[in-house]
Amino acid sequence: MAFLDKHKAIETHATLLMVLSLLVVSIGGLVQIVPLFYLENTIEKVDGMRPYTPLELAGRDIYIREGCYGCHSQMIRPMRDEVERYGHYSLAAESMYDHPFQWGSKRTGPDLARVGGRYSDEWHQDHFANAKSVVPESVMPPYGFLAQNVIDGEYIADTLAAHRMVGVPYTEDMVAAGQGDFAAQADPNADTAGLLERYGEKVNVRNFDGQPELTEMDALIAYIQVLGTMVDFSTFTPDASR
Ligand code: HEC
Repeated sequence: MAFLDKHKAIETHATLLMVLSLLVVSIGGLVQIVPLFYLENTIEKVDGMRPYTPLELAGRDIYIREGCYGCHSQMIRPMRDEVERYGHYSLAAESMYDHPFQWGSKRTGPDLARVGGRYSDEWHQDHFANAKSVVPESVMPPYGFLAQNVIDGEYIADTLAAHRMVGVPYTEDMVAAGQGDFAAQADPNADTAGLLERYGEKVNVRNFDGQPELTEMDALIAYIQVLGTMVDFSTFTPDASR
């Protein structure tokens, strides 16, 4: 056929074949990539998501500093075994305020995306101090020293401001009140009206590490206890219009 003869000309001419292949591939690429630049947001909005409180954010920084992501993921995949073990699969919106996200790729220990509220603060205190005391076969290292590291949130307002720079909707008010909110969340006797007004009534306010001092253990437990609890899955329905 005459048509195939012409194709032979392309196949036997390396440079021409390359130029035409590039052309085809770039059209395919543009069709996929260009629309993404015109989308405001690729994340479906979900009720309940809020930025981390200053204390939770500090706990998250400790989580990153200690390399917890080396053994724990924070993303429940939409597969039956995962959903039965860990709960509703993770939504994109649930990590939209995480910079950087903590999805992880290694599970020496279980996924932590929905560990919030699953255990008591006391369980976490014991588990962090010596995991084998509560899970005898555990290989998780001890982190009891966190309970000795007293913190005062000296730089927390700067941390909030940095997260705002990358798109987390912290307001002026939240940044200005950062250090006060930081301390108030771990102190049941503090005036927490401002904290709850800024971050919502559901915020956990209590002495997380059971000691009078505010320590890194308070921050880490505050963070762990909020993981996966912001979205109410008893009322959540995926948006079918997309
Ligand atoms: C060397 C790997 C390793 C590291 C590092 C590690 N863990 Fe673990 N973690 C485990 C293992 C294994 C388990 C399961 C046994 C157990 O409960 O101790 C576990 C369990 C847990 C649990 C209980 C989860 C559940 O659903 O039962 C939490 C919470 C936890 N780890 C938090 C952390 C945090 C926070 C850090 C960082 C400070 C951390 N882990 C660092 C291995 C690790």
